[in-house]
Amino acid sequence: MEKDRSIFITDQHIYDNHRKHFKGVRFIQIPAGETFKVQSTIDQIIDQLISFGADRKTTLIGVGGGVITDITGYVASVFMRGVPFGFVPTSILGMVDASIGGKNGIDVGNYKNMVGVIRQPGFLFYDVSLLNSLPAEEWVNGFAEVIKHAAIKDASLFRELENKSITYYRKDKKALTELIRKNVVIKSTIVQKDEFEGNERRLLNFGHTLGHAVENVYHLPHGHAISIGIKGACLISEQMTNFKETARVTNLLQQYGLPIDIPVDFGKVIEIMRMDKKKLRDTMHYVVLEKLGKAIIKPIPMAQLEKLLYSIARAR
Ligand SMILES: NC(=O)c1ccc[n+]([C@@H]2O[C@H](COP(=O)([O-])OP(=O)(O)OC[C@H]3O[C@@H](n4cnc5c(N)ncnc54)[C@H](O)[C@@H]3O)[C@@H](O)[C@H]2O)c1
Ligand SMILES: [Zn+2]
Repeated sequence: MEKDRSIFITDQHIYDNHRKHFKGVRFIQIPAGETFKVQSTIDQIIDQLISFGADRKTTLIGVGGGVITDITGYVASVFMRGVPFGFVPTSILGMVDASIGGKNGIDVGNYKNMVGVIRQPGFLFYDVSLLNSLPAEEWVNGFAEVIKHAAIKDASLFRELENKSITYYRKDKKALTELIRKNVVIKSTIVQKDEFEGNERRLLNFGHTLGHAVENVYHLPHGHAISIGIKGACLISEQMTNFKETARVTNLLQQYGLPIDIPVDFGKVIEIMRMDKKKLRDTMHYVVLEKLGKAIIKPIPMAQLEKLLYSIARAR
């Protein structure tokens, strides 16, 4: 990758906090936030690429959280029918989740990630010192996915998390680096087994079926919605697999600043779930835990799932 053939894409928060890294390079800056993960931003980026004289050999490098990496991978996949790209993730969520796996895309109206491609970045570059400027609430959001990874794949990581805290990982860069590495291995191993979401990759949806529905209705931060979704998935696991450790999971979520209260209006939430991408005909492929560190997929008929959700809501 030659420096003068690269164009960096970043958002305003990253740029404001890390200006010195952008000295002397060509870069495109967009406003921060999920609302800009839309086609009009892509159009603006493409205009700027054209005015930079970008060509098929230009490498695009996304420096940012999941919004920036999703956008960069998408633009790079469609600009001139595809140019090389790589990522420098700057948020916990970006490092452990969004930058890994090759899903790149944008939102359309209320539909998140409705348009996109699966294409792997040429490289990922990690620098944990970039996290020094990450706001506290984004640490919490990112840890929802860390807890998800531990719950579905790694009981010993789960125990480590029980003995630590965000404050600890923020202070101890070595421990943080090791934590991120473990999470990268968990996600990339799953993706390598199943890049195009046959079965294994679905495990990553743990907490996300209910979580996305809750996010959609209540406009919560993603990590908060997923936390509620994880609790729901644990309660469903109790019914489906006789899972017994819901309390440990909910305690851990709370320990990392995440909410576990399930909002009341299950009617609305179920309505959204019916439209979920993961629904196949009248059966939902739900990710449940057999035990901590071991998730499986259970096909649950929609009617049974609705009953389960209402019984959870009543039992609150
Ligand atoms: N492609 C995938 O497989 C995948 C997986 C999970 C999530 N995602 C996507 O990722 C997005 C969420 O990612 P996110 O939580 O990183 O959101 P984000 O990119 O919006 O970042 C969150 C906020 O933190 C700021 N920020 C990021 N890094 C910073 C830093 N080092 N210093 C200061 N501020 C910083 C951003 O400017 C933003 O305001 C969603 O759009 C989601 O759909 C994609
Ligand atoms: Zn998520």
